[in-house]
Amino acid sequence: MKTILITGGTSGIGKGIALSSLKKGHRVIVVGSSLINGDIFYDEAKKIDAEERAFYIQADLSSIKENQRVIQEINSRFESLDSIVFCAAKNSKEYTETKEGFELTFALAYLSRFILSYGLKESLEKSENPIIINICGSGMKGQVNWSDLGHKQKFEPQKVMFHSSRLNDLLGVQFAQNDTVGKIKYVMYNPWGVRTPGMMEVYNTPLKWSFFKLFSKPVEEAIIPVTDLLDNPPASTLSAYRVHKKLNLNMGSYDPVNAKKLYDITNELLEK
Ligand SMILES: NC(=O)c1ccc[n+]([C@@H]2O[C@H](COP(=O)([O-])OP(=O)(O)OC[C@H]3O[C@@H](n4cnc5c(N)ncnc54)[C@H](OP(=O)(O)O)[C@@H]3O)[C@@H](O)[C@H]2O)c1
Repeated sequence: MKTILITGGTSGIGKGIALSSLKKGHRVIVVGSSLINGDIFYDEAKKIDAEERAFYIQADLSSIKENQRVIQEINSRFESLDSIVFCAAKNSKEYTETKEGFELTFALAYLSRFILSYGLKESLEKSENPIIINICGSGMKGQVNWSDLGHKQKFEPQKVMFHSSRLNDLLGVQFAQNDTVGKIKYVMYNPWGVRTPGMMEVYNTPLKWSFFKLFSKPVEEAIIPVTDLLDNPPASTLSAYRVHKKLNLNMGSYDPVNAKKLYDITNELLEK
C-alpha cells in the first residue's frame, strides 16, 4: 500500500486520482480548502469501503503558514510518503491578495507547490521509489514575467494561470538540479483539456463549454496516464509529459538558468 498526497484532491483531476488510488488499495491524503468538500470525499471513500485509508486535511494552500502546517501535520501523522500529486489551483477572475501579500494564483498554484516539494522531501525519501507529479500546463511557450512575477502591476485572468505553469516547469527543473540524493522522480504533467468543475468556471456559458468539449476529455480518461506514472515512476529524476507524449527538456520552458534564478527569487520572497 502506497501513501499518496493529493493537493486539490476534492475536485476534477485531483479527485479522479484520489478515488482511483483508493480503489487500488492505497492510503490517500487529500488537501483542500473546503470542509464540505472534505466531507464529500469521506462519503465517497466510505462508499468504496476505503474510509480507513482516506484522510482529509483542510488547509488554505494559498497561505504560506498553512502549507507549513500541512507539512508538520503530514510528518507527524504519516511515517513516509510515496507520492505527491499537485492539483490545487483556482482560476481567479480578479486580483486577489492573500493575507501574506501574494497574488492568489501565484501563491496557490506555484508557491504552495514550491514549499510542499521541498518541505516533504525527506518524507518522500523514506519510500522506495518516490514521485512528485506537478499537474500544470507544462511545456507551453511563454515567457516568465521577471519584472512582475506575482502580477502586482498587471493582472490578466487568462494569463496568470498560464504563467504559474511556466513557474512550475522551472520549479521541477531546479528541484532535480538541487536534489543530490536523486531518489525522487519529479514529473511535470500537462493533461491538456479536461472537463472539470474548475474548467466549467472558465468556460462559463453553454457556447464556451460546447467549444471546450471539442478538444477536452472527461476526468476518468485524463487521469489514466497520471495513475500509470504513480504505479510506475519513470527512471529519470526529471521528466515532462503532455498527455502521453514525453516532452523535450531542452525546450525554453525548462531553461536551467531561469530555474536557478526563480529558485533564488522564491527563497527571497519566502524569507521576507
Ligand atoms: N482541467 C484542465 O483542462 C487542465 C488543463 C491543464 C492543467 N490543469 C491543471 O490541473 C490542476 C487541476 O485542475 P482541475 O481543473 O482539476 O481543478 P478544479 O476542478 O478547479 O479543482 C481544484 C482543486 O483545488 C482545490 N483548491 C482551490 N483553492 C484551494 C486553496 N486555497 N487551498 C487548497 N486547495 C484549494 C479545490 O478544492 P477546494 O475548493 O475544496 O479548496 C479543488 O480540489 C490545476 O493545477 C490545473 O491548472 C488543468
